[in-house]
Amino acid sequence: MTDGETPLPLPFGYRDSALYVEDVPVSELAARYGTPLYVTSEARLRENARKLFGAFRPQWPRFSLLYAVKANSNPAIVRILASEGCGADCSNPAEIRIAVDAGVPSDRILYTGAYPRTEELAAAIDAGVRVNLDDPELLPRLLACGRPPALSFRVNPGETEAGPEGLRFAGPDAKFGAPLEPVVDGLRAAAAAGIRRLGLHTMPGSNILDPAHFGRLGRFLATAARRIRAAGIELEFLDFGGGLGVPYRPSESPLDVTEVARQIATALRSAYPDGTAAPTLFAEPGRYLVADSTILVTRVTHTKAHPIPFVGVDAGMHTLLRPALYGAYHPVYAVERRETEPHPIQHVGGPVCENTDVLARDRRLPRLRRDDLIALGIAGAYGFSMSSQYNNRPRAAEVLVRGAEGFPIRERERFEDLVARTRLPPHLTGTLLPPPVGPSGGR
Ligand SMILES: Cc1ncc(COP(=O)(O)O)c(C=O)c1O
Repeated sequence: MTDGETPLPLPFGYRDSALYVEDVPVSELAARYGTPLYVTSEARLRENARKLFGAFRPQWPRFSLLYAVKANSNPAIVRILASEGCGADCSNPAEIRIAVDAGVPSDRILYTGAYPRTEELAAAIDAGVRVNLDDPELLPRLLACGRPPALSFRVNPGETEAGPEGLRFAGPDAKFGAPLEPVVDGLRAAAAAGIRRLGLHTMPGSNILDPAHFGRLGRFLATAARRIRAAGIELEFLDFGGGLGVPYRPSESPLDVTEVARQIATALRSAYPDGTAAPTLFAEPGRYLVADSTILVTRVTHTKAHPIPFVGVDAGMHTLLRPALYGAYHPVYAVERRETEPHPIQHVGGPVCENTDVLARDRRLPRLRRDDLIALGIAGAYGFSMSSQYNNRPRAAEVLVRGAEGFPIRERERFEDLVARTRLPPHLTGTLLPPPVGPSGGR
């Protein structure tokens, strides 16, 4: 039994009463690699990339996907997506390096830094990747480092209803992007500095499940592109960011990405009616590509009946931060189903000393016992990548499943990783001396 309702995405599913990822029982992976354990299906990753290309290419042939590496930067995952033709959206030089090492060509890498240090701009120039500036006033600092092969600016489209609370990046209070007119000035300045390949970027929100939002975004981009053309600039690329949502809750339906593509392309065709000078369209999804490719497997450590029924597990906010960070919902699945038992309402809590360390609230779960395994679903996006060592807990391991085989793609951290970079200054080494005695004889 599960908490019920959010369907497991294929190729996750039950055979008899056991949860499988592709052809591997989850319990076997937990026994072999320990818990908490992130388990990713390679087939699902590939399917997600193909679904997006399949939705967009017929509508807009010059379409490219840039995987937002921040969602899960494991090199194996970046490489699988690169082998499907995805480029990379990178938010810092480390992510650029991960993408380059995974084999992503530099022309398919876009660096978007929010509030970057000059060294970060210089690293992007050295890597020869496309650069997307959050603020046109960053241009002189960028040009002092060199000229990128292609440049865009992030425009803030103003108030939108994009995305749930905590996942909205646009509007008058947002920290991202600049209004259109300063962006037009920035594009003019970039052209005057000799940069020929120019683009426009926007990213108003995340986890959006309404195709109409993307239609509005397409109309915004079309209007902006016309305004930019009126300023004498032809854009080489338009980037509508990420934001493609996935259903986490039982009440949510999958996003119709064919409809998203249709609405965006219809809007953009109004700015490029003959199609010949049409720019490349970039999307830079993170969540859509990886969220449902991965589950987080965790073991029950204790169950407590009062004051409300709690299932304690060995994963917590240090493993999966989203529930504590913004009340995110992750479905919970039993790894061994016991259908016949009653399913009381329970909370699932982690071992971290914070009252917010609750991974799931008010779920109808089977009566779990110590050492049972459960899986938190849709855990591939901003799961491992937001994890931490808080409370001195080493980070989890990651495993990739391909058919009947599991491959470790990240080792579990150990105690040594917690302290590896700490140092004692000289006066604290050696035998600890008693505290100095003050004139009064005390401390
Ligand atoms: C610039 C940029 N692009 C893409 C993404 C990916 O967003 P999502 O995971 O919603 O697709 C993000 C996420 O924060 C982002 O900041």
